[in-house]
Amino acid sequence: MPAQHAEKAQTQMSALQCRPLSAALGAEIVGVDLRRPLDDQTFEQVLAAWHQHLVILLRNQELTEEDQVGFAERFGPPAIIHTKEYIRTHPAVMLISNIREDGKPIGALPDGEMQFHTDQCHQERPAMASMLYAIEVPSVGGNTLFANGYKAYETLPAEIKQRIEGRKALNAYDYHTAAMKRGTRLAQGVPFYIHPVVRTHPATGRRALYVNRLMTARIEEMPEAESDELLQLLFDHQERHEFIYEHVWRPSDLLMWDNRCTLHARTDFSPGERRLLRRVTILGEKPV
Ligand code: SIN
Repeated sequence: MPAQHAEKAQTQMSALQCRPLSAALGAEIVGVDLRRPLDDQTFEQVLAAWHQHLVILLRNQELTEEDQVGFAERFGPPAIIHTKEYIRTHPAVMLISNIREDGKPIGALPDGEMQFHTDQCHQERPAMASMLYAIEVPSVGGNTLFANGYKAYETLPAEIKQRIEGRKALNAYDYHTAAMKRGTRLAQGVPFYIHPVVRTHPATGRRALYVNRLMTARIEEMPEAESDELLQLLFDHQERHEFIYEHVWRPSDLLMWDNRCTLHARTDFSPGERRLLRRVTILGEKPV
């Protein structure tokens, strides 16, 4: 068989099945094996499902780092990883883990609970997507929560929509001093970027609330007390139970979320249990 035909025979032509994960968002895609490249038609179906459901899950995937990056690259170029100490092999793959070697975690974001946030919103071009592949998971907790940013925006009272229309907010990466909790004031020298409070998704055209409890420090050009009060209201609203899907991890889960229209958080887990996931993030556009 000529080489190009052999290659074609190995690509995967799947009939996709999509099972919703919750009323809030998310779908499990069944019938795809990510060890083999997807043909364009199947990939278009995966992309459409992702745009529709915001979070996609593929279970029972046995993936090398190259397999995971190969799938991620179908969506766009991987973002650069600045914390090189958490890269083991492939430069686009970062470990998320509480496992320690010589007393130091082998991965980023090692321990316990994390508040709601979206990835790299402190940068000019935040991550479009983030993809986690589970290798070891605790028996209880360490679940990842996803909140639907479209629903959060769409269900705001008209008066609040008016108050945030055209507004911008400062988003800062202050995890160390804030110890994964929202600090009341911005520490000096932390990286930050100012983005719209409401952003429009470039593919779906829908508007999503784009602030979050962990990283949004203030609304620009607004008195401090008013900004604090308004942000508190927005955080409480966007974290309402009906907008959230809680993912309980199983080893070999591959899950990808859209940072342009979702927030995510993590529940606490025992420091005595091991948690190891591989993360790939995909570079996004400047929010508008
Ligand atoms: C993250 O915020 O990217 C990590 C989420 C998790 O560890 O569940």
